[in-house]
Amino acid sequence: MKTEIEFKNVKKVYGEKVVMEGFNLSIEKGEFVTIIGSSGCGKTTALKMVNGLVQPTSGDIFVDGENIRNKNQTQLRRNIGYAIQGSVLFPHMTVEQNIAYVPNLLNKRDKGKTKNAVSKWMKIVGLSEDLKDRYPSELSGGQQQRVGIARALAASPEILLMDEPFGAVDEITRGQLQMELKRIHGQTGITVLFVTHDISEALRLGTKVLVMNNGKMEQFAKPGDLLRSPATEFVKELVKGECRTSGFSLQDD
Ligand SMILES: Nc1ncnc2c1ncn2[C@@H]1O[C@H](COP(=O)(O)OP(=O)(O)OP(=O)(O)O)[C@@H](O)[C@H]1O
Ligand SMILES: [Mg+2]
Repeated sequence: MKTEIEFKNVKKVYGEKVVMEGFNLSIEKGEFVTIIGSSGCGKTTALKMVNGLVQPTSGDIFVDGENIRNKNQTQLRRNIGYAIQGSVLFPHMTVEQNIAYVPNLLNKRDKGKTKNAVSKWMKIVGLSEDLKDRYPSELSGGQQQRVGIARALAASPEILLMDEPFGAVDEITRGQLQMELKRIHGQTGITVLFVTHDISEALRLGTKVLVMNNGKMEQFAKPGDLLRSPATEFVKELVKGECRTSGFSLQDD
């Protein structure tokens, strides 16, 4: 298996505060990594380091074998979709224009190609076609999140970073989005990093789960292994009450 993302001895300091130190992580291509941990432990920071929105104080990050320090930032980000919680859509653009934003940059001349791509992704995330001329303020929270995901995916990235993307939706919508995302992952072979506060969601979606605490890795393992053999007290406490019979099947079972 090919390594897609690698953190090597990464340290991040904000002012006096050490957010992350001695952080090593290797993620294989096509992996769906869910990231969970206490608030402020560095999950968003880790995610933003992958697409260069945050620079490490020391240490290196490799994407597709290349140290991102040496990479052109625009090119790096073009290959990485980023979907975050809350409304990050362009408010003055319609659904169609939002999703078409990156495809338009990539194929300026071929408007038809972009139109087809928008239709395709709207269908995949479960948005009906007639929503395409609406503005974000005219959509429900769940619909806005779908547009955000479609927009991230429409750029055909090799890596998708998602920071609590389903935080603001109800349980039913959330379940649907989880299933859709899993299907998209299966179909595209995209590498996903997905931050969540919900251990059930982390276990259900991840091919691997990264548990963080205070900027350190507690455990990085398959969901089944996390449940069977939690590496630390923190992980043990986290997975307490979660079990293999709780109504969903784990990826590695
Ligand atoms: N730009 C910044 N300047 C100073 N401190 C920051 C900055 N960004 C983040 N921090 C601090 O770094 C730590 C890690 O932040 P980060 O956003 O990565 O946490 P998180 O794990 O995503 O938390 P949450 O679960 O609440 O989203 C926190 O203590 C935060 O206050
Ligand atoms: Mg965060």
